[in-house]
Amino acid sequence: MMSKFMEWVDARFPATKMWEEHLSKYYAPKNFNFFYFFGSLALLVLVNQIVTGVWLTMSYTPTAEGAFASVEYIMRDVEYGWILRYMHSTGASAFFAVVYLHMFRGLLYGSYQKPRELVWIFGMLIYLMLMAEAFMGYLLPWGQMSYWGAQVIISLFGAIPVIGADLTQWIRGDYLISGITLNRFFALHVVALPIVILGLVVLHILALHEVGSNNPDGVDIKKFKDENGKPLDGIAFHPYYTVKDIVGVVVFLFVFCFVLFFFPEMGGYFLEKPNFEAANPFKTPAHIAPVWYFTPFYAILRAVPDKLLGVIAMGAAIAVLFVLPWLDRSPVKSMRYKGWMSKVWLLIFCISFVILGVLGVLAPTPGRTLLSQVCTILYFAYFLLMPFYTKYEKTKPVPERVTG
Ligand code: HEM
Repeated sequence: MMSKFMEWVDARFPATKMWEEHLSKYYAPKNFNFFYFFGSLALLVLVNQIVTGVWLTMSYTPTAEGAFASVEYIMRDVEYGWILRYMHSTGASAFFAVVYLHMFRGLLYGSYQKPRELVWIFGMLIYLMLMAEAFMGYLLPWGQMSYWGAQVIISLFGAIPVIGADLTQWIRGDYLISGITLNRFFALHVVALPIVILGLVVLHILALHEVGSNNPDGVDIKKFKDENGKPLDGIAFHPYYTVKDIVGVVVFLFVFCFVLFFFPEMGGYFLEKPNFEAANPFKTPAHIAPVWYFTPFYAILRAVPDKLLGVIAMGAAIAVLFVLPWLDRSPVKSMRYKGWMSKVWLLIFCISFVILGVLGVLAPTPGRTLLSQVCTILYFAYFLLMPFYTKYEKTKPVPERVTG
């Protein structure tokens, strides 16, 4: 019965062909480690955001008068509304945690290098869209931090010469952030950006499956194949990695549920304290800080004394990641076989990124500003010096086959 049905479908739609190409006959390197869980986890969190987001939309009111109260209504009166909201807000932080680890894996194993440049570029576009998605989503509860956070970020566009003032007005749709801004952010957050992100994820995975996955050794598994053309160091994605990924999903869900049920606000880092107060355009909170996943870039912005140069530095900090595949001139991919300079610079980069993240939450003092300037320089040095240290350092010989 089933095979007859599949025959009927396959004559009209490439169901079996797609299943084989992307799952049962997609050969992935057999040495995937811990860091390879985060791609599938990002997919899981994406689904969580879409499903909980759709349900939240059913009870949310996208108006300046009704937004804050509708979130309270969801939390108190809607059946299971509290869990939907916390799954969505915790999911946003989980999304960035997972994506940052996913990107770190790319840096560690040179996954952005030839021939995976487009996989990386699509990934970066996802990251950019994810930032826009999170930023717009944060305005929707219409709390104090929603309002004033958006105020700070939108006013940055005002630093652009000539068009700045008009541009900020165009983004807001008003002379100040108002219900009009809330309405357009709602439309972009629930309809436009999710479609773009979903489309980019499809492109990301199609590009990956065209060239095949990299691995912790950075060796090409397509070099050695058996008589049937199957890579000797590859295993079928399904069932081997679908089953392995379930282990990652279970561990992730333990951590996720722990946060969800016991620390949904995470001490003010996932849901900031001023956001439990309704937006008030006449009362600026004492201290405005974005949510943790934006703080490294916020610290770079504040490290530069000039507003326009700060905005440029912040933009450049993200833009430079796009050209990473062309900055790395190393003959080897994985950090396992790169020289000591690559290792030290990656470490410096990660430490600087974390310090910038911490500084971005804190109120600035002269000492902190100096530290953020040092970390900003180190952040950029990692990228700008990369063509030199990757080219001239001594690398270790790469094995022919994966080592495990
Ligand atoms: C919604 C967000 C994202 C989703 C759902 C996603 C999904 C995936 C999946 C399922 C894989 C294959 C499994 C794996 O290697 O872990 C993958 C691989 C990859 N992703 Fe992503 N990704 C996302 C964001 C990003 C971002 C932001 C970047 C970097 C800028 C990125 C860069 C890569 C690279 C380079 C690979 C290939 C890794 C390798 O073969 O070693 N991804 N992604």
